[in-house]
Amino acid sequence: MYSKKVMDHFANPRNVGSIDDANVVVQAGDPSCGDGLLIFLKIENEAIKDIKYKIYGCGAAIATSSVASEMAMGRSLDDVLSFITEQSIAEALDGLPEEKMHCSNLAAGALRTAVSHYRAKVAGQVAPADA
Ligand code: FES
Repeated sequence: MYSKKVMDHFANPRNVGSIDDANVVVQAGDPSCGDGLLIFLKIENEAIKDIKYKIYGCGAAIATSSVASEMAMGRSLDDVLSFITEQSIAEALDGLPEEKMHCSNLAAGALRTAVSHYRAKVAGQVAPADA
């Protein structure tokens, strides 16, 4: 019922770990199942220079976090917001069973939250005249 890509990312998740000098760390969870994702981002020049995460969850949550980290690596923040969605993550894995679609929202939601936290942080540091 899972695609080969899901099984591959589940068995060998990419970019697992943490980043000591991350400038954004976001925790996301799915209250319906209790799964959780902790995501670390190193952002420079409005782009994701490095991404790592720790995941506690089902096989689909592991696979979606892994593929989302590959999709986000090196991308501009605007691209992350535009292109990394629940749907595009599922497509990158050649689909997910319907009952597992919500698992891809863990990573998509965490990335959206991380970008908005980062932008809020930067906005707070930059004088309006320099923005
Ligand atoms: Fe919880 Fe998949 S069942 S994220």
